[in-house]
Amino acid sequence: MTDAVPPGHVFLVGFMGAGKSTVGAILADKLGRRFVDLDAEIEKADGRPVAQIFAEQGEEVFRALESEALARLADEEPLVVACGGGIVLRAVNRRLLKELGTVAYLEVTAGEALARIGDVEGRPLLAAGDPSAAAALLDARLALYRAAADITIDTDASEPAELAAALADALAHGGGSR
Ligand code: S3P
Repeated sequence: MTDAVPPGHVFLVGFMGAGKSTVGAILADKLGRRFVDLDAEIEKADGRPVAQIFAEQGEEVFRALESEALARLADEEPLVVACGGGIVLRAVNRRLLKELGTVAYLEVTAGEALARIGDVEGRPLLAAGDPSAAAALLDARLALYRAAADITIDTDASEPAELAAALADALAHGGGSR
């Protein structure tokens, strides 16, 4: 039992709408770390919004930019990082997540995710706003999220501040449900 947060970054992964950015910002504050949103880093580096990258060059180009943004974090001080929902899709990313820190998986159901997101503009993979398509996408990723996770936390019934507190606690106590 230790109260020290593990070395390296804390990566928040999970489906769109899981609350990674909201919870991550609160968690970063609690841990006294800088918060980084990986989608925002991609947009900063590329100069285009994520949806525009998808529209103009497709998902594969976006995924390559996402992997580059993740790799750039290797030299940063320990951060809290909210990753895009598809970060676990590439093996190279899964390897980097493991190497560079601790992975917290924020679980959410597809229905709850869509309800939270509301306006799907800006999320090209949900652009159809179709609940069964979102559920199928989540389903196809579940095993990857679970395999990547050092810590898993269910977000459906909790507020962001409670989730951040639970995560801080799990990190300090080497916790998680892996
Ligand atoms: C994606 C999730 C988005 C963004 C892109 C692709 C995905 O990030 O990276 O639209 O594949 O699930 P959020 O999970 O922050 O919405």
